[in-house]
Amino acid sequence: MTTGTLQLRAMEWTDLERLAELERSLFPDDAWSEQSWWSELAHRPRRRYAVVEADEDLAGYAGLDCAGDVADVMTIAVSPRHQGHGLGQRLLDWLLDQARDSGAEAVLLEVRADNEPARALYARNGFEQIHVRRGYYQPAGVDALILRAHLTEVDR
Ligand SMILES: CC(C)(COP(=O)(O)OP(=O)(O)OC[C@H]1O[C@@H](n2cnc3c(N)ncnc32)[C@H](O)[C@@H]1OP(=O)(O)O)[C@@H](O)C(=O)NCCC(=O)NCCS
Repeated sequence: MTTGTLQLRAMEWTDLERLAELERSLFPDDAWSEQSWWSELAHRPRRRYAVVEADEDLAGYAGLDCAGDVADVMTIAVSPRHQGHGLGQRLLDWLLDQARDSGAEAVLLEVRADNEPARALYARNGFEQIHVRRGYYQPAGVDALILRAHLTEVDR
């Protein structure tokens, strides 16, 4: 599968039902509800969200909060069927482009310490750990790592 054939576009209200279902399968402990997604989209243009469509399916999605000189990654996810084909990288590239476009100088995100695929993705894109929130993710008590990338350092 090539990711080039998958279309990345702005998230719409009509995506939210499918999105909430995918979210539950990817984040069983702390999935955002459909109501939370409605609230997120209501906060555009400060929040920026995109989905990647694959035929009838949603293959992935990502979102950013743009407020001043630091942008925050709200979420990034790829459906299990589409993982490992470069789509996570494509979504992260989109997030970083959006952050630059908003005038941000740095991007922050939070990741579970036990999420190896995500941590590897962020590390290869210049993100560095700046803080740890011990036991943040419940009920498992997994640490949350706060990572930051300076946009000038990840420019290509
Ligand atoms: C993290 C996630 C978005 C990566 O998406 P993906 O489409 O599979 O990633 P890509 O194919 O673009 O891979 C990009 C890089 O990510 C890392 N990566 C991806 N899958 C990995 C795995 N299973 N193990 C280790 N590293 C992995 C690698 O650095 C990879 O680069 P490489 O292929 O040159 O080694 C995806 O695994 C996902 O959606 N996970 C569930 C939701 C989630 O955890 N989101 C992040 C919350 S902070």
